[in-house]
Amino acid sequence: MKEVHVIRRERFNSAHRLFNPTWDDAKNEKVFGKCSNKNWHGHNYILFVTVKGTIDPDTGYVIDMKILSDLIKEKIVEKMDHKNLNIEVDFMQGMVPTAENIAVQIFEELAPGVTATGNTLHCVKLCETENNFVEYYG
Ligand code: NI
Repeated sequence: MKEVHVIRRERFNSAHRLFNPTWDDAKNEKVFGKCSNKNWHGHNYILFVTVKGTIDPDTGYVIDMKILSDLIKEKIVEKMDHKNLNIEVDFMQGMVPTAENIAVQIFEELAPGVTATGNTLHCVKLCETENNFVEYYG
């Protein structure tokens, strides 16, 4: 059986602040610079979710993209879009909301739902800006 990677793109806009509460303001400012602005800033995040699986001979699909899109919307977009990642998103609590940490958390949130379809969550790629993006492979 040939394995194919299928990729769904979704978008969300969120506010955050890079801030480590165990440091004082001066150290946060030194390490994170303007990303630590206490009045927040936002990003137009672009998310690529890659699922790996074999082609169903009846449908010709690895996974129905509608099912994958609905899963991402329910687990991620509805919780993160137009929200403050530092204070409003349950699975982002207790960590600095960098792209790295967001990608890992998104992977953990999506993995069970993808596994339930009989496929494997292969990669979460998160673009924070045009030039800065991260990938997590679990
Ligand atoms: Ni930022």
